[in-house]
Amino acid sequence: MRIVLRIGGSVIASPPDPKMLNRYVEVITQILREGHGMIIVVGGGRPAREFIQIAKDMGMEEPEQDEVAISISRVFAQLISMKMGGHEWKDVPTSLEEARDALRRRGVAVMGGLRPGMTTDAVAALAASEIDADLIIKATDQDGVYTKDPEKHPEAEKIDEMSFEDLAALLERERHTAGIHQIIDPEAARILRERRIRTIVVNGFNPENVLAALRGEKVGTLIH
Ligand code: UTP
Repeated sequence: MRIVLRIGGSVIASPPDPKMLNRYVEVITQILREGHGMIIVVGGGRPAREFIQIAKDMGMEEPEQDEVAISISRVFAQLISMKMGGHEWKDVPTSLEEARDALRRRGVAVMGGLRPGMTTDAVAALAASEIDADLIIKATDQDGVYTKDPEKHPEAEKIDEMSFEDLAALLERERHTAGIHQIIDPEAARILRERRIRTIVVNGFNPENVLAALRGEKVGTLIH
């Protein structure tokens, strides 16, 4: 299978967690050993947000703020990449073409952000669409998609399975509750819906969940 794994900065980088990064390297290695090809897209989490603030305080505009966040996400991609392939794997793809190329040569590509004005979710969706992925797994800081933002609504319920149409409706509803970080970026959701790429959202603090999702076990939220 061709898989895109999106690892939230919230999971590996907030604060940066060497043990968790290494656990992901193990999981990725295992998936590769099973013969799957994979593009991994990581976010920069809290450090990225800190650098956004620094750029802002220095008087820079949003595109420049985003550029530093992208750089930070690439450092985390580089850590995973070099842990797997040593110094030779130090270069992180900075375009979809480069990611595709790395996938062809090595069976795996590890990347961070791409361009200002988007999220790593959107990068993952674009990568999935570029390689016509069979599956995208998002490893995040929640157990899956909830009926409402679980941080604010204790009565929110986890959804086990939903359609892309359900997800679009849910994101549209949530959009009006100002500024909350959505479980999936609506732009990414739109791309995945259009291409009908099977998507599973799992709790990334247990990297084994990624393996479970891949094996078709009931974990997180399946969107299809
Ligand atoms: P994300 O919010 O996508 O990453 O990017 P994350 O840290 O993994 O977040 P969690 O774990 O899901 O919460 C952080 C910021 O980096 C910039 C944007 O400002 C984005 O909000 N970014 C990222 C870009 O501008 N372009 C990209 O391609 C990626």
